[in-house]
Amino acid sequence: MKFINIKLTNFRNYKKLNLSFNPTKNIIIGENGEGKTNIVEALYVLALSKSFRGSKEDVIILNGEDSTCIEGTVKDNYKDKYKLVLSKEGKKVFINDTKIDKISDYLSKINIVLFTSEDLKLIKDTPNTRRRLINIELSQYSNEYLKLLSNYNKVLKQRNAFLKMLYFNGNASRNYLDILTDQLIEIGLKLYNYRQDFVNNISNYIENNYYKIAKKHGLVLSYKSDYKNKSKEDLLNMYKKNIDKDITQGKTNLGIHHDDFIFELNGKNLKDYGSEGEQKNAIISLKMAEIDIFKNDLNIMPILILDDLFSELDKKKINNILDFISDDIQTFVTTTDLTKVDKRLKVGSKIFKIKNGSIKEVNYE
Ligand SMILES: Nc1ncnc2c1ncn2[C@@H]1O[C@H](COP(=O)(O)OP(=O)(O)OP(=O)(O)O)[C@@H](O)[C@H]1O
Ligand SMILES: [Mg+2]
Repeated sequence: MKFINIKLTNFRNYKKLNLSFNPTKNIIIGENGEGKTNIVEALYVLALSKSFRGSKEDVIILNGEDSTCIEGTVKDNYKDKYKLVLSKEGKKVFINDTKIDKISDYLSKINIVLFTSEDLKLIKDTPNTRRRLINIELSQYSNEYLKLLSNYNKVLKQRNAFLKMLYFNGNASRNYLDILTDQLIEIGLKLYNYRQDFVNNISNYIENNYYKIAKKHGLVLSYKSDYKNKSKEDLLNMYKKNIDKDITQGKTNLGIHHDDFIFELNGKNLKDYGSEGEQKNAIISLKMAEIDIFKNDLNIMPILILDDLFSELDKKKINNILDFISDDIQTFVTTTDLTKVDKRLKVGSKIFKIKNGSIKEVNYE
């Protein structure tokens, strides 16, 4: 699939902006703060209804305005028009001018693999960041996943609130806690299965990708979860054993909200043992495995966004990424310095130069 064009109204620093894209390669250049990331962010928000810059939602509205609108045409088998409006009244999404009432029915239509310089910290970062990445990926593959996740979080919140109540009111009936625990396990097991499948799918590719890049075997992504190999009965017992601790702390100590994803190279955790370069190569292998899953398992050609990667990676690693990118994947690259972008990527690309908020388009011969 490919973005044909995009139209922004009151999005970040853009009052109005219309861009038509190259079906293959697009490079956005400009100094720091000119609005490069803002453009790829708009593509991402149109696809996933949320920004990857995880702050308050309304920060994408141009300062001083009440609403923002992103419109874009995407060509896959057909050409479809997507539109997202965010205002104080909330978010509205449209496909071909028809309003879609449930966000979950809108998602997973435009598929994006995003690779930013932030991702390079993935292995060093907290489990929360890794869970977030997996959640974003899975919500692109499955509508049900997102619904389950939001239900899980709702039940978790109710359970934690009830635990706090029990702490102050020890004699209260625990029946409701049992109901919530049961629900949490039911939903949690489904989410666990999705995550396990995802890690299995990634595993089919990540080792091979890492070998192509680093000429070393043995990279594995493993999944750590309280739910691993547990039946519902096992889990009920585990929650029972933890009840006093849960009540004292006013929180649920077990569950898939503590899951983690570990990168191991020949059995050694890359977080503790990996060099900087090994960690970066592992993340590149993961990102490229995301593309592999879309292409090979789901028969979908995703759109690739590389935001600000070129300042963080040496020539060799950039080349490794470029080796994975074929012309059938529409690619968006942002950079402050065109000389840092490999010639292979520049040839035949459309270049958008941003200066003082205005954009000039040139084709690189
Ligand atoms: N809601 C908003 N309204 C107006 N301007 C905004 C808004 N949000 C962000 N900006 C402006 O957008 C600019 C940042 O844009 P962006 O992050 O796209 O920069 P960039 O070109 O990617 O820079 P860098 O090279 O540093 O990554 C900043 O100048 C910021 O003040
Ligand atoms: Mg940027």
